[in-house]
Amino acid sequence: MLNFKFDLPTQIFFGKDQLKNLVKAIQKEVVEPRILLAYGQGSIKKSGLYDQIINIFQQADFFYTELNGIEPNPKIESVREGATICQKHKINFILAVGGGSVLDCAKVISAATFYKADPWDFFCQKATITQALPLGVITTMAATSSETNNNAVLSNAHQKDKRSVHSPLIRPKFAICDPVYTYSVSKYQTASGAVDMMSHLFEQYFSSTYDSYLQDRMTESLLKTVIHFAPIALKEPQNYEARANLLYVNNLALNGLLSYGKIGDWACHQIEHAISAYNDMTHGVGLAIITPIWMKYVLTDQNCARFITLAKNVWEIEQGSLTDQEYALAGIAQTAAFFQKLGMPSSLSEVGLSKELLPKIASTSVLYGEIGNFYKLNQDDVLQILTTAF
Ligand code: NZQ
Ligand code: ZN
Repeated sequence: MLNFKFDLPTQIFFGKDQLKNLVKAIQKEVVEPRILLAYGQGSIKKSGLYDQIINIFQQADFFYTELNGIEPNPKIESVREGATICQKHKINFILAVGGGSVLDCAKVISAATFYKADPWDFFCQKATITQALPLGVITTMAATSSETNNNAVLSNAHQKDKRSVHSPLIRPKFAICDPVYTYSVSKYQTASGAVDMMSHLFEQYFSSTYDSYLQDRMTESLLKTVIHFAPIALKEPQNYEARANLLYVNNLALNGLLSYGKIGDWACHQIEHAISAYNDMTHGVGLAIITPIWMKYVLTDQNCARFITLAKNVWEIEQGSLTDQEYALAGIAQTAAFFQKLGMPSSLSEVGLSKELLPKIASTSVLYGEIGNFYKLNQDDVLQILTTAF
């Protein structure tokens, strides 16, 4: 296991009726709050959450202003708009309410407010984040783990680019996670969120660091939790136990806990980000298509053991008379079958991607050199994966 520093600073209020903690949680960060309320395209208004938050702000006599309409696969333009609002109204706290897109956008606004030039600079190594407003979040879907991590992923539509930035300064100070708020998430988003969480777990499970027994067993448990509860949540959207388990996986899947002391792979994410920069595809959908194909592509005799633990410990497949390669392939086939059972597409042509874009997507994926750590991929490898996925 590699050396690591253990640091999990986000305070999580988990369960029903946790909004009662909102006022104190904000006051812990700022004495006289001047709040930017950031949200998406209307789901929080439909669910009634918006009215509850406004009511709390009014009762507490908090100043607030809003940034609404943040899109899925959020764009850098929303960050520019949000930072301008924060500067104009002397905002000292941001509350982001929504899925990963809203949370990521708010994270970058928190830093962009103090940055004099264009915030896209953070994404192309032209600037680092040195200061950020305190941020609190209310998570309304289980997918990205953005509520507990240092990451933000933004798109630049003009440049056909989607990139991530990482800084401890943009990590939320607190996260309110009430599974009831996720009842209204559509089947499609519930399924793609489940795939995204599984993909985060795979990206850490398929590691070039092999002596990470505890992290690997924890990762398997989280995978099994998603596999058990995602189909239940699809069938019964208001099943509290299913939604609560998925939301708790979301808190844990990408907050650092599972990757302390090891190096993850992340090639599937880099390929998917390049795809969705070109066609705005839902993140989990792209991952559902790419991941099983990546697994088959990178499987070798040398790394077969990791695929066998996937088949055995996660999918509970018996080896019987199967050779090791056949056993590994059975686990991969089960992964693909599960994504299809969730209703995910299995090819890029199914989701309307143009075949001519594949070489461009391959070159964008490896813009900074080879990707992946468990298995290194060059541009030709990525193109082969994309072509198989078509
Ligand atoms: O905009 P609203 O109206 O809120 O609707 C959203 C949106 O249309 C809706 N939704 C969210 N909560 C809902 C709900 N609808 C009904 N009821 C609710 N309770 O769902 C749609 C998708 O929302 P979005 O925030 O885009 O989904 P997700 O959480 O999957 O976030 C995806 C974004 O996060 C990035 C992805 O690349 C993508 O841009 N990622 C962020 C990561 C991170 N910060 O660590 C890591 C991930 O790998 C990922 O790259
Ligand atoms: Zn992801």
